[in-house]
Amino acid sequence: MNGTLQRKTDLDTPCLVLDLDILDQNLRKMQALTERAGKRLRPHAKTHKCSLLARRQMEIGAIGICAAKVSEAEALCRAGIENILITGPVVTKQKIARLVALRAKAPSLMVVVDHPVPIDLLSAALGDQGLTMDVLLDVDIGLHRTGVSPAESSAPAELSAPAELSAPNGVINLADHILAHSNLRLRGIQAYAGQVQHIHSYNDRKNGSHQCLQKATGIFHALQTKVPTCTVFSASGTGTSDIDLDIPELTELQAGSYACMDAEYLAIGSAEDNSRFTAFGPALRLLTTVVSVNQDGYVTVDAGLKALYRDGAVPQIINPEYAGLQYDWFGDEYGRVTGSGSVGMPPLGAVLELVTSHCDPTINLFDRYYVTQGPEVVDTWSIDLRGCSQ
Ligand SMILES: Cc1ncc(COP(=O)(O)O)c(C=O)c1O
Repeated sequence: MNGTLQRKTDLDTPCLVLDLDILDQNLRKMQALTERAGKRLRPHAKTHKCSLLARRQMEIGAIGICAAKVSEAEALCRAGIENILITGPVVTKQKIARLVALRAKAPSLMVVVDHPVPIDLLSAALGDQGLTMDVLLDVDIGLHRTGVSPAESSAPAELSAPAELSAPNGVINLADHILAHSNLRLRGIQAYAGQVQHIHSYNDRKNGSHQCLQKATGIFHALQTKVPTCTVFSASGTGTSDIDLDIPELTELQAGSYACMDAEYLAIGSAEDNSRFTAFGPALRLLTTVVSVNQDGYVTVDAGLKALYRDGAVPQIINPEYAGLQYDWFGDEYGRVTGSGSVGMPPLGAVLELVTSHCDPTINLFDRYYVTQGPEVVDTWSIDLRGCSQ
């Protein structure tokens, strides 16, 4: 902590605070659940965007960290984080050059692939530098965003489709394509079912996730018999983490949001209580001040679209004295807080504490977390992966 000790009430707003005790409970709980199931945890940094937090996850037992983009991986690497997996396709020649430069510094770096063209480009760029690289085959298990459709994997294994095809090849064909490049090592698969993570009913989410992952398990077995180095089955998110740990083939979880949490996740059902998600607590909060009280029926606060991403669930006001009041966006700079029932409206200057709508893109709006323990600000952590969209 630089400078003198601050109290949470001294912080200017809008700002993000991370409750250290809740954060550590979340980190330790996910780590323990994963280890108890005999699996590994490679948390996704796309949520917290903070290399200090990533380091904390590694110290608690994570085997590595996931990054969504090359630029996130570069920032993690600069901070000395090892075993980074880039979970999105790297396609442009500029990013392939950056990926290879990063691989030169980080031998344990892995990336997912889902198409022969970037595989060829990556292999050629690695070859120019005399480097090799581990890759995971990205399997599309229903999100239809990236990855190869498992339905296409029934094609004969000996068929290697030409690289110029615009549609992705079947999984086995693509595996053959990877194997044809001696400087690429196929280490396994990624199968992320983003579309089921926020299904409200626990049982529906469980059935949905198992159906999706089932599509990937057959592929994983097929690849394992063909490719001895294929030992990684990386999947899952916060919403299905406890569910997916039951899948024998899965080797590692990629969950991200569990560290910070948000209103969108807190609203889904859990095994214990189908009305709310009980596994992880809201470590991340947004502080916002009442800056105008001159209207009837509502007050205006200083956090709008520039401070709170408008996606996901409605943000929750958690100050006990104002619980029940509702936040809504009121332009770029402001929010509107309306009352209901007997809860009194906050006065000018009152600071409200909100659980954010969707944590990842909200975090992307700030430079730092103020890390708090009770009323004290005990540290500030740079959100050093902020804005890493490339
Ligand atoms: C590929 C991938 N893996 C894992 C995650 C983590 O999911 P969650 O934040 O729901 O835990 C995400 C989130 O978007 C993702 O895109």
